Amino acid sequence: MSDRKANLILPNGEASIDFPIHSGTIGPDAVDIRALLGKTGKVTYDPGFLSTASCRSAITYIDGDEGVLLYRGYPIEQLAKNCDFLEVCHLLLNGELPNSEEKTRFDSKVMRHTMVHDQINNFFRGFRRDAHPMAILVGTVGALSAFYHDSLDLDNPSHREISQFRLIAKIPTLAAMAYKYSVGQPFVYPDNELSYSANFMRMLFSVPAEEYKVNDTLARALDRIFILHADHEQNASTSTVRLAGSSGANPFACIAAGIACLWGPAHGGANEACLDMLEEIGDVSRVGEYIKKAKDKNSGFRLMGFGHRVYKNYDPRAKLMRETCHEVLGELGLENDRLFKLAMELERIALEDDYFVEKKLYPNVDFYSGIVQRAMGIPTNMFTCIFALARTVGWIAQWNEMISDSEQKIGRPRQLYVGEGLRDVKSIQQR
Ligand code: SDX
Repeated sequence: MSDRKANLILPNGEASIDFPIHSGTIGPDAVDIRALLGKTGKVTYDPGFLSTASCRSAITYIDGDEGVLLYRGYPIEQLAKNCDFLEVCHLLLNGELPNSEEKTRFDSKVMRHTMVHDQINNFFRGFRRDAHPMAILVGTVGALSAFYHDSLDLDNPSHREISQFRLIAKIPTLAAMAYKYSVGQPFVYPDNELSYSANFMRMLFSVPAEEYKVNDTLARALDRIFILHADHEQNASTSTVRLAGSSGANPFACIAAGIACLWGPAHGGANEACLDMLEEIGDVSRVGEYIKKAKDKNSGFRLMGFGHRVYKNYDPRAKLMRETCHEVLGELGLENDRLFKLAMELERIALEDDYFVEKKLYPNVDFYSGIVQRAMGIPTNMFTCIFALARTVGWIAQWNEMISDSEQKIGRPRQLYVGEGLRDVKSIQQR
């Protein structure tokens, strides 16, 4: 802890108080205001927590101005090119990339938990066939806690460890089941001989009636999509998981809360919304009309896949996703994909427009991810499930870090009350 201080002087000599300033490894310093209420009777006001650090974390670092994303210090570009998703899972959870022996052990630990309890199948029968897969995922992931009463003691590290393996391993199975249920095809059991991503593709697309051959290029592209979405510091859904976990809720309930938050179109639902937007624009000739709408405050329309709370530069994940787009469309002979060309033209025009330049609105991870997934045959309403599947490891790593942080208490923000002052109830005759 440094001995540097920030001084707060309140009007009319009410108070002059010093608050400690903490420095991290990299990134902004933090003014420690924990004593503010006790010393001044005042609270800070920061809707959306734009200037608030909710915790100390050693997992992910983002530099929004420079467009930098590090997982445990490694640049996302290097991880996406040199590692597979389970290596990145090991890194996020344990702080280091695995050596080959550690990788073998970690991968087999994950892959031996890929099946779900057979009674989980009954949950699906209760959903309509046209239920949104995210609704099914929220329900079934939360329901997992009903099957593991033997390992919900959060103070027991082995309980926390097996829960993390169960969640990372079972969420692809549940996501694939949600898709199969929506198209009326039988569920496909996991095949633990396949890689994590190839297994997910097989559970999604294989049918009992014929042999399924995994396309390695597509499986690798999907693995990269998982890596790019694995964690992202204290975003809305991660903060939801931390807040739920701070009450002592079990990890399955916390991850279900994270999935619910991610579903929003301002967050993880943006990739689905972005593809719907591109379909609505339809043709490059209409791009100008939509750019105009996005700039009109009264339109209520935003360019999905553009802008970010932290990135005021190009989201490094969007660059990697665009490369993956090229690879996948090339592999599938779809280089002239209408939506991909439309997306690139939309990006070009937006990035030349003063409104977007001044507000530092660049494509984010969601801008290209929908195009890649659509090309792979993944339906639009499954995009956010894929995001949730990938982000589960980040949520668990952050949840684990919070549980082990001696400074953490139950999350309980305060408010600036602007409602009615004290008043008496009148009888109904007098109202
Ligand atoms: C994710 O936090 C994370 O890390 C999230 C995420 C992760 O990995 O977990 O990165 C994943 O959620 C990516 C973001 C996906 N969402 C979208 O693509 C939806 C479209 N984007 C916007 O809704 C918006 O950009 C947000 C929600 C992403 C960020 O909102 P902010 O930082 O609160 O920005 P803002 O709403 O205050 O906007 C600043 C200005 C506003 O104009 P003014 O009030 O200053 O005049 O920019 C405008 C906004 O109107 N603006 C946009 C815009 N995004 C912001 N205008 C048009 N189109 C947009 N997309």
